[in-house]
This record gives sequence, C-alpha cells and structure tokens, in this order.
Amino acid sequence: MLRPIVSTNLAITADGKISSTAQRPTGWTSREDHARLLELRANADAILVGRGTLDADRMTLTVPEASRQPLRCIVSRSGQLDPAHPIFTKAGGDIHLLVTGENPSSQADPLDSRMTVHHQTLLAFLHTLASEYQVKRLHCEGGGQLIRALAELDAIDEFHLTLAGHTIFGGQAAPTTTGIPADFLPKALPFEISHFDPRPDLGECFLSYTRSR
Ligand SMILES: NC(=O)c1ccc[n+]([C@@H]2O[C@H](COP(=O)([O-])OP(=O)(O)OC[C@H]3O[C@@H](n4cnc5c(N)ncnc54)[C@H](OP(=O)(O)O)[C@@H]3O)[C@@H](O)[C@H]2O)c1
Repeated sequence: MLRPIVSTNLAITADGKISSTAQRPTGWTSREDHARLLELRANADAILVGRGTLDADRMTLTVPEASRQPLRCIVSRSGQLDPAHPIFTKAGGDIHLLVTGENPSSQADPLDSRMTVHHQTLLAFLHTLASEYQVKRLHCEGGGQLIRALAELDAIDEFHLTLAGHTIFGGQAAPTTTGIPADFLPKALPFEISHFDPRPDLGECFLSYTRSR
C-alpha cells in the first residue's frame, strides 16, 4: 500500500517517560533539542500528532520562516478539538483532522476554512496523505498512544530520540514512547542505529534509528 515515509521524534527521561503523570507539557529539554525538533519538522511534507499532545503542548505545528509549511494532521477518536486552540489562529499548513471513532462528537466538523475532516482508519489516512496530498515524508511528534498505533501497523521508518538523562519523571501513569506502560507490542521491530550524538554538556543524547526491512 502506498504510504509516506514515516518518522517519529520523542524526548525520553532516564526512566523512559515522555511526560509526567500530570501530563507535563514540552519545555523540559534543552534549546538544542528544540532546534532538532524544528529541523526534523522542516524536512516533512506533513506533521502528525495525537489530540492529547496537541492540547498538552499547545502546538501550532509550523516551521519558523519557512516559505512552504507542512500540512498539520491531528488524530482523534472523538474529533473533539478546542476551537480556541492556537493552531486555528497561527498561519501555517492546511489542517487535516483524522477522526477514527464510531461515534464522533458533533464538533468533528471543520472549525476552520483550512481544515478537512477525514473519517477513516489510521492506515487508510496514511494512504490518503500519500495518494491525494502528495505527502512523501510524514513526521509524527507523538504522543505515545499515537506512536504505539503506528508501531502496531509497523509503519515507522525512522525513530528519532533525545535521551534526556537529566530528568526522571517516575509514576506508572506517566506515558512512555508507546503510551501508558502496558502490554508489549506483539513482536519486536528491528531498527538500526543511524545517529548517536552524546552531549554530556546538556545531559542529553540525540539518537536516530532506521527500520531494517
Ligand atoms: N517527550 C516528548 O517528546 C513528547 C512528545 C509528544 C507528547 N508528549 C507528551 O505526552 C503526553 C500525551 O501523551 P499521550 O500518549 O496521551 O498522547 P497522544 O497520543 O497525543 O494523545 C492521546 C489522544 O490522541 C488521540 N489518539 C492517539 N492515538 C490515536 C489513534 N490511534 N486513533 C485515534 N485517536 C488517537 C486520542 O484523542 P481523543 O481523546 O480526542 O479521541 C487520544 O485520547 C503530553 O503530556 C505531551 O506533552 C511528549
């Protein structure tokens, strides 16, 4: 099936968490990590996030000073977005909301003239982005629940990670790269390490992995 090359990017604590039990938003890693996030975003035709991350991090999914902005894609079961979210006021790429639930909220209607609502599965949406919107590179910025769904489809080609050794969040209810710690994936997915940049000065290590197929 035609689909874009899918990359992901996450920062994890020394204990493997991407956030705290209270869903601490982004901002706990270095300026260099944020610069890397923007560099990865700039290489994508579209950005993908879960509705939980969109809300927690108040993200606008834009690339500063870029003439061509990536599409901004949001995944939700309910389709319920906050109409006051800054994504609707910040200029950027068109907004695509994927609603996967069977009983979406009445708010799953376009909230903005730049917004298209899709009712299909995550896998079908990947196909739609490639075939109808010419998305060759799709970059997912989390959160863990969405990355788990992509991993279950074995649809992750590049996995970028910042190992933030300076922080431990703890707590069983704090999300990991594949959501709240629960069952493992049904099978291991082999990746090869393609970038390893330890930065003792920052207490962080920038890593990239490429799926071996
Ligand atoms: N450290 C990092 O790099 C990093 C990166 C991203 C996020 N975070 C943090 O992680 C926390 C959020 O984590 P999370 O795992 O809860 O986030 P998430 O995956 O962004 O959000 C979960 C919500 O997104 C929607 N969703 C996710 N996967 C879906 C799927 N397969 N199909 C349909 N809808 C789907 C659902 O929205 P509805 O409820 O609308 O149905 C779900 O309730 C936040 O605190 C955020 O700051 C950290």
